[in-house]
Amino acid sequence: MEAGLESVIAAETVLSDVDGEAGRLVLRGATLEDLAGVADFESVCTRLWAGLVPDLPVDLRAALGDARVRVWEEVSRLDAGLLDLPPVEGLRALMARLPDGEDADAALRITAAPAVFTGALLRRRAGRPALAPDPSAGHAADLLRMISGEAPSAGQAAALDAYLVTVIDHGLNASTFAARVTASTRAGLVSAALAGLSALKGPLHGGAPGPVIDMLDSIGTPANARTWLEAALDRGDRLMGFGHRVYRVRDPRADALKAAIRRLGADEGRLALGEAVEAAALGVLRSRKPDRPLDTNVEFYTALLLEALGIPPEAFTCIFAAGRVAGWTAHAREQIATGRLIRPQSVYVGPVPMAA
Ligand code: ACO
Repeated sequence: MEAGLESVIAAETVLSDVDGEAGRLVLRGATLEDLAGVADFESVCTRLWAGLVPDLPVDLRAALGDARVRVWEEVSRLDAGLLDLPPVEGLRALMARLPDGEDADAALRITAAPAVFTGALLRRRAGRPALAPDPSAGHAADLLRMISGEAPSAGQAAALDAYLVTVIDHGLNASTFAARVTASTRAGLVSAALAGLSALKGPLHGGAPGPVIDMLDSIGTPANARTWLEAALDRGDRLMGFGHRVYRVRDPRADALKAAIRRLGADEGRLALGEAVEAAALGVLRSRKPDRPLDTNVEFYTALLLEALGIPPEAFTCIFAAGRVAGWTAHAREQIATGRLIRPQSVYVGPVPMAA
């Protein structure tokens, strides 16, 4: 038995295909390259939800805008103490307050929630009042505005759209599996997304990009990269933003995000530091683990892109959740449609009871 279940096929899905040998991601019939930087979050959400979420509104941009407004009504009823939690813990607590269900309304509310709640959590940390959503705006643009208080440029909104689309779904990753297990009990889409978020926040999954920023800040200049990385590996640390359970080649999402950073025209010096650290890390990993291909994963350039958009590292996982929640919801609906409870078995290896 493999402790990480890597060879176990636990679901059939029409939603996404992760080809770890070719480094290719397909999102319901389109490649990542067809969508990232091309389509907005709402249209890829529609692609994933079609035929799975019942009574899907035709105009998803407007429906998601309305859903942000309904989620916002929760913020005014909040115990303010919840807004003082670290962002990802606050998001987990706040999402749990939404009424559960399996219908389109629940799907829209839980998908709107990370944007609204992350804005409120970050503004509270900055000592500023939370901002109400603008239902007429695109989801990515409104998310950025609810954080900064200013309407983003078209380029910034497009960069966040590219990010949300890039992370929207990715096969049966740990958080999606958690969401499917929860949905299979018929607990509802809010509970499924909460299970997903709880799995996502770990540093081996969606919690990695904050530590990537710490690593870049600590390295400081390209010349320090190799020594710093060697020392980290000597301590037994893992290099955040590298390695993947499925990809044996470069994660295609890394390139999609690097392209988004370039289009945004972000700080060249910071990107150059990132590229130098990436090159040094790949060299060090190759020499230390010649038999285990370890390449750049999505989280490395996530860190640089979200930083360039002015999002503080402690909220990176919340922004990841703002994209992935659409995938969790699609998988939850797909699981519900199978009508089958997920209930695997374990092998007992504990003590044998004494004979009477
Ligand atoms: N840095 C250093 N060594 C590594 C790294 C890394 N980033 N990743 C794997 N290794 C090493 C392991 O220590 C192990 O060495 P060993 O055989 O001497 O014990 C070997 O490579 C194989 O690693 P596994 O644990 O089998 O790889 P697994 O598939 O379980 O790990 C994971 C995947 C968890 C992503 C891992 O690569 C890792 O911890 N990366 C750093 C955290 C990170 O970037 N997470 C984000 C992943 S992307 C996402 O979830 C959205």
